[in-house]
Amino acid sequence: SKGMTIKNMSFKVGQTMTIVGVPKPDATNFAVNIGPDEKEITMHINPRFNAHGDENAVVCNSYQNGSWCEEYREGGFPFHQGEEFTIVIEFTPAEFQVSLSDGSKIHFPNRIGAEKYSFISFDGEVRVTGFDIK
Ligand code: GAL
Repeated sequence: SKGMTIKNMSFKVGQTMTIVGVPKPDATNFAVNIGPDEKEITMHINPRFNAHGDENAVVCNSYQNGSWCEEYREGGFPFHQGEEFTIVIEFTPAEFQVSLSDGSKIHFPNRIGAEKYSFISFDGEVRVTGFDIK
């Protein structure tokens, strides 16, 4: 089930997205999904407190042609249930550079390869309190 969804976003190479949110006090995980439409995800960012066999890990992946691709596990885990976080995503020509609030970074390739994405959804147990593209 999808939480907040934006279908007419414009997130382009060279831009930086900032997401502020608060995971629910009993959250097991939540996800940010960026893609061309609701069927494909070029960048899935999935902080897992305790979900799918992971404890306190950020799992990134893409979803293409109906399946999940190769997972990346990078960066720290500066997330706490019920506490505000900030995620900053820089869209460079080569990749997405995701900065977490502990200063760690995730480098994730733009597997779908478009220069602009218009769809984002926030799934799972999170309340989004800030969203910005510059
Ligand atoms: C799956 C999970 C999906 C997604 C994917 C990422 O196990 O069900 O929601 O997080 O991993 O590879």
